[in-house]
Amino acid sequence: MRAAWILTASALVCARAAARPPPALDPEDFLEKYGYLHQDHHIHNAVEVQAAIREFQWLSRLPVTGELDSPTLRQMAEPRCGVSDEGSQQTWAQRVHVIFTGKSRLANRSRRSAAPAEKWYKRHLTYQIVNWPQHLSPGSVRLAVRAAFQLWSNVSGLVFQEAPEGPADIRLAFYEGDHNDGSSNAFDGPGGTLAHAFLPRRGEAHFDMAERWTLNGHKGHNLFMVTAHEVGHTLGLEHSPVRHALMSPYYRKLGRSLVLSWDDIMAVQQLYGKPLGDRPVRLPGQVLHAALQEWEFTELQSREEIPGQPVYCRGVFDAITIDQNDTVLVFRGGAYWTVSAGGGAVGPLPLRQRWPDLPPAIEAAAFSPLDSKWYFFKGKRVWRYTGDSLDPGFPRKSSEMGLPHHPDTAFYYSPLGHMVVFKGSRYSVLDLKTLRQVPYYPRRLTDWTGVPQGTNGALTRPDGRLYLFREQRFWRFDPVKVRVTREGQWAGDLSWTGCSSSIRHSNTIL
Ligand SMILES: *[C@@H]1O[C@H](CO)[C@@H](O)[C@H](O)[C@H]1NC(C)=O
Ligand SMILES: *[C@@H]1O[C@H](CO)[C@@H](O)[C@H](O)[C@H]1NC(C)=O
Ligand SMILES: *[C@@H]1O[C@H](CO)[C@@H](O)[C@H](O)[C@H]1NC(C)=O
Ligand SMILES: [Zn+2]
Ligand SMILES: [Zn+2]
Repeated sequence: MRAAWILTASALVCARAAARPPPALDPEDFLEKYGYLHQDHHIHNAVEVQAAIREFQWLSRLPVTGELDSPTLRQMAEPRCGVSDEGSQQTWAQRVHVIFTGKSRLANRSRRSAAPAEKWYKRHLTYQIVNWPQHLSPGSVRLAVRAAFQLWSNVSGLVFQEAPEGPADIRLAFYEGDHNDGSSNAFDGPGGTLAHAFLPRRGEAHFDMAERWTLNGHKGHNLFMVTAHEVGHTLGLEHSPVRHALMSPYYRKLGRSLVLSWDDIMAVQQLYGKPLGDRPVRLPGQVLHAALQEWEFTELQSREEIPGQPVYCRGVFDAITIDQNDTVLVFRGGAYWTVSAGGGAVGPLPLRQRWPDLPPAIEAAAFSPLDSKWYFFKGKRVWRYTGDSLDPGFPRKSSEMGLPHHPDTAFYYSPLGHMVVFKGSRYSVLDLKTLRQVPYYPRRLTDWTGVPQGTNGALTRPDGRLYLFREQRFWRFDPVKVRVTREGQWAGDLSWTGCSSSIRHSNTIL
């Protein structure tokens, strides 16, 4: 019985692995780690396992089948918070009970002791950012963390203050792998567990240093959202089964909708009461999103005054392309940089100033020498500019052109005479004259021997070679040999990215 079940599970995991990097996930380990199965001796009978799967499905809002079906396995591989879901069902039931009856004690919580909820016994709390993630500036991290705390203080009786030094009630820190709070809390690299935190009054929230943290954009995980969630735990909140709750265990993007759901507010107010005097303040996701972008841009500019490399050299970018004058353009958030053929970088410049109506944090950009036009991709839309004016009929839906949403990379590829768009394990080919996908595409990315999935951008150098970028690395694809012929670190190895130090110095002298 048990053996058959394991076989089915691994078959499904394998089938999925084709589409994504393997999740390296054993369903029983997952159920133990997140509190659905006891961890004694790792021995569970079929009834226990089925009950655990049911509970997991309920909390994850999946059809409750008790089977390890593919939606369940897929859900287990989603990026999430590392805090156990144990007890959250009971806590939630209790919260709802209070709403309907006004009484604060239901039956005893079955799995936890009958001790009162873990909470802080003061209303004024201090926090500290102990260390910093790699690809964001300290200033923008500080603003995002402040906003994450404000989110909770704006709807509850709590007040927060940053304590840059000395003791603090709540400490936020970034760690890689095992970081001395138990092997089950060890971080697992990009994806999977993003962060975890402890219930009061330990006052610790830990974030996986290996994630690509961002404050805007589609690529990476939004640090503001994850911090807001983890702060919820440090205040005593457990996971919520409510679909749009911030305290849902699964990572959520910062979208247009409100960040806090009624359930999050109810939970924090049951512990700390309503805000003093004022009515609760909730800002729509859009407003916060705009604010985060603004901060990041201001930060980028203020950092740029320090002589040295452009800020994208030490981190990541959203998109890259090259124009007919062999000027390289690098895009990040609401800004872009130009690197002339001689290697001199200029920027950051505001994106909107050159391409009005273009949203920040684009996902792919390509200049096409065929029609001398700029193409930008973000979400479900495509923008096309002639110089700095938006062409009539744009932005246009990518689906109308047969292209995928949220592309990874776009570039004009002269051997085909068309635009190529990468997305995950596939690529599409767009005819720029008809603005339709060329027949027989999309095809598998494996046609591009040696090119990894999930690149941020690509461009063709004047010598005809294609360079593709992901995180800190690049891959050089030779169109004649039809394979990758070189790999390396783009900032250090490619002077035309504007990051090479010798060119930087000659620039400073000029
Ligand atoms: C709740 O806990 C108390 C003390 O631990 C116990 O006496 C009581 O029977 C419990 N009630 C329920 C409904 O389990
Ligand atoms: C919290 O409320 C203040 C005052 O109304 C507001 O300025 C701030 O933007 C709000 N912050 C968040 C994150 O909701
Ligand atoms: C390329 O250079 C020419 C001549 O210097 C200039 O007129 C043109 O605007 C440049 N093109 C772009 C896309 O910057
Ligand atoms: Zn959590
Ligand atoms: Zn930890």
